[in-house]
Amino acid sequence: MTFIPPSKDCLLCERLCAFREQNKIKFPHYYNGPVEPFGDINAEVLIVGLAPGLNGANQTGRPFTNDYAGDILYPALKEAGLAKGDYLKKKDDGFELVNVRVTNAVRCVPPENKPVTAEEKNCRSFLKQEIAAMPNLKVILCLGTISHKNVLQALGLKQSFAKFRHGSVYDTGIRGVKLIDSYHTSRYNINTGVLSYEMFQKIIYMIKDLIK
Ligand code: URA
Repeated sequence: MTFIPPSKDCLLCERLCAFREQNKIKFPHYYNGPVEPFGDINAEVLIVGLAPGLNGANQTGRPFTNDYAGDILYPALKEAGLAKGDYLKKKDDGFELVNVRVTNAVRCVPPENKPVTAEEKNCRSFLKQEIAAMPNLKVILCLGTISHKNVLQALGLKQSFAKFRHGSVYDTGIRGVKLIDSYHTSRYNINTGVLSYEMFQKIIYMIKDLIK
């Protein structure tokens, strides 16, 4: 199966399209479109976030790039040898993922960072295709509950199959793929102490073990 990302002017979600049009006027130099995944389709690890941030991935056109959440995610990957180069918060910074691909459950920026259920559903077809198109996939890291929920649905699994729990690893029974949960690397979670860099780094090292 080949993965075909949404077109730059994807019209599936009325509310997200209206927001995009407003942002094109307000921020004409921003990317303002569905943000394409970052990393190789042949990677063994897929990291699934929530949705682009307005001034982060929606600006730069690369998931988590210039978003606070990327300031935790990308250094942690680099420290574990799952990324190389300097993360300079720009799409053309030359930063590279190693055996990892990063994507989002919802590919367009939602108002107030909160997609609605219908938008998750519309975008899920892309997540489903993307997972199916990764021939070497071994581990999916779900960042937060919305990612977890959408990954289960994309895999055709019931929500009762796996409860979201930071640090839990589930064998999906599909192509040998394992699912691992982490609290999202959002500014909110870091500032409130729900997640620390060290806690997240442990998750990344668990993933390294899983792909050994
Ligand atoms: N930026 C993204 O691309 N995804 C997230 O989940 C958060 C910030």
